[in-house]
Amino acid sequence: MPGIEDEVLEVSDLDVHYGVGRRRHRALSGVSLQVRSGETLGLIGETGSGKSTLARTVLGLVRASGGRVRIGGEDVTGYSQRQWRSFRRRGVVQYVFQDPLRSLDPDLTVQESLLEPLLLRGDPRASALEAVREQFARVNLDEHLLPRRPAELSGGQRQRVAVARALVVEPALIILDEPVSALDAANRVQILQIIKNLRDAGTALVFISHDLGSVAGVADRIAVLYQGELVESGSTAEVLRTPQHAYTRLLLGSVPTLHAPPATRAERQALRAQLNGEPV
Ligand SMILES: Nc1ncnc2c1ncn2[C@@H]1O[C@H](COP(=O)(O)OP(=O)(O)OP(=O)(O)O)[C@@H](O)[C@H]1O
Ligand SMILES: [Mg+2]
Repeated sequence: MPGIEDEVLEVSDLDVHYGVGRRRHRALSGVSLQVRSGETLGLIGETGSGKSTLARTVLGLVRASGGRVRIGGEDVTGYSQRQWRSFRRRGVVQYVFQDPLRSLDPDLTVQESLLEPLLLRGDPRASALEAVREQFARVNLDEHLLPRRPAELSGGQRQRVAVARALVVEPALIILDEPVSALDAANRVQILQIIKNLRDAGTALVFISHDLGSVAGVADRIAVLYQGELVESGSTAEVLRTPQHAYTRLLLGSVPTLHAPPATRAERQALRAQLNGEPV
């Protein structure tokens, strides 16, 4: 059994609320999960289930109301803004936002954007420039894009630049929030290939998606969020073969190529009703 030192990410009993007073609502409830070094975790769930909230809380962008987060063995729960800034600067964990425009500063050129995390970390400019060029090639981007600003890129290029920026510091953990959802088929295949290469290179990954199909080919393990709770987690093969939760079965029903027999329309309707608490 791997020891605790192998955990790149450990989330324990996490609660997150948004809003105050009567508008306070719970986005995550008692969520626990681990990602070991070199492992890819697929985090799936329908829209509003709390996937981005979980990612943002791990990055210290949203404050938890309960529970604990450890990254690379370091307990970051309760870090102040200043502690977070210095922790993020070290580049242990990187987050690629769901909207790639949010990962990139609109005023910086692509080259400046990629250089920034390296220079902040204290790398000398010459080696930082070299690392940027190498990274660019690795995500299949041409160097003629380096002087451009985010607004002058296509959606697919922007997503690849955002991924390149996350990779350039060689973090121990990368969280990719819906990295392929907004892309066309060709760009999707390219990004999935980059994710596979990363996984093969031993980087720990959290791959967030509402689409079980794109996660299944990449993830070692799958965790399923449903209305802010983790309703299922296990090895990808286990989850696909013997899904435990009705919501996971519903997801599987929409992935016809997997081993589980596809749910019929009537079965899916019954599951939906069950999930919504209606009498079947
Ligand atoms: N800043 C915020 N303030 C208040 N409520 C929020 C905020 N961000 C998210 N929420 C709410 O928290 C819940 C979880 O949202 P979250 O963005 O984490 O879902 P998600 O699983 O990432 O969805 P999607 O697949 O659409 O990206 C939703 O009900 C959402 O409306
Ligand atoms: Mg989201």
